Amino acid sequence: MDIELYKGGKSTIEGMSDILKLSSNENPNGPPLGAKQALIEAGNSLHRYPSSDHLELCQTLAETHELDVSKIICGCGSDELISLLCRGYAGSGVEVIHTSHGFLMYRICAMAVGATVVSVPEKDRHVDIDAILNAINPSTAVIFIANPGNPTGTRILDIDIDIERLIKRTPKDVLIVLDGAYADYVEDWDGGARFVESHTNVVMLRTLSKMYGLGGLRVGWGYAPQHIVDLLNRVRAPFNLSVPALLAGEAAVKDKEFVNAHRKQNNDARSWLAAELLEIGVKSDPSEANFILARFPNQVQAEACDDYLQSIGVLVRRVGSYGLPNALRITVPNMDGCARVVAGIKRFWRQTR
Ligand SMILES: Cc1ncc(COP(=O)(O)O)c(C=O)c1O
Repeated sequence: MDIELYKGGKSTIEGMSDILKLSSNENPNGPPLGAKQALIEAGNSLHRYPSSDHLELCQTLAETHELDVSKIICGCGSDELISLLCRGYAGSGVEVIHTSHGFLMYRICAMAVGATVVSVPEKDRHVDIDAILNAINPSTAVIFIANPGNPTGTRILDIDIDIERLIKRTPKDVLIVLDGAYADYVEDWDGGARFVESHTNVVMLRTLSKMYGLGGLRVGWGYAPQHIVDLLNRVRAPFNLSVPALLAGEAAVKDKEFVNAHRKQNNDARSWLAAELLEIGVKSDPSEANFILARFPNQVQAEACDDYLQSIGVLVRRVGSYGLPNALRITVPNMDGCARVVAGIKRFWRQTR
């Protein structure tokens, strides 16, 4: 009962129907058309158990990302893989490291297996590799790093040099998990796959919940050295992905054009949103994901702005539970949505100043 209950982003406002939901980093356009068609066709196979090796989805992922298919593992969302990694590699008497504004599931899954959670400071909302290195001790079992981070949106700046330095100075029996839930939004970042190829203790996590608009289906995947995949396959449920999830996931990953188009749409809208807010004094760090973290002078103003946005039907995310009470995380919508958010925050700002 010491585990803080995970609360998903709000999705309804009583008495309102025209809601702009920007609280869970979802793709505003939904999934690729092929995924929706695959979902309908999946109706014909619902009496069948799904495959337990997820081979076809794994092959599609391997071809798309030019990876070794035998090192891919799929999960019911990357949440499940975080949980499986903790079950496989952590437990009572060992420590799991995450960064101070790290994704809450790292803490939750580590605590669920009785591990001690160590939260290391970030530097101005950026992962601080030296702080992580300083926290490693003989009890350390797993290190979780999200790049780009959630809810900060920031990336590790000197990524190749910094990650290589971390790997070099971390004992080989400590697992380094690079969570690339938002890697699809970064043009020159493979999520960390290159480090998995050359090291025995590095795992990459990815998801179809963000870029591919399939959060409702729960499809995540990981890329890991063979010995880690072998272990995780032994502790996961054999049918952890449903028939619809496998078929729609596969169709989505095949649509490479969708990714390029949505990345451009997101990144253009994100720049506009951040610039417009900056103009009225609401700052955010350069984001590499599908959201921005808008910072307010204090918690009272951040919460008042959230209340105001809710009153006009806009749902964003408070991030006090991530140690950022002065900030609101805003998923990047399409341009119409961006205009609605900016107009709302400008009106709030004028009223309070
Ligand atoms: C950094 C990060 N990792 C993992 C996840 C889990 O994603 P899913 O379980 O939907 O694949 C999320 C979801 O918000 C996230 O932000």
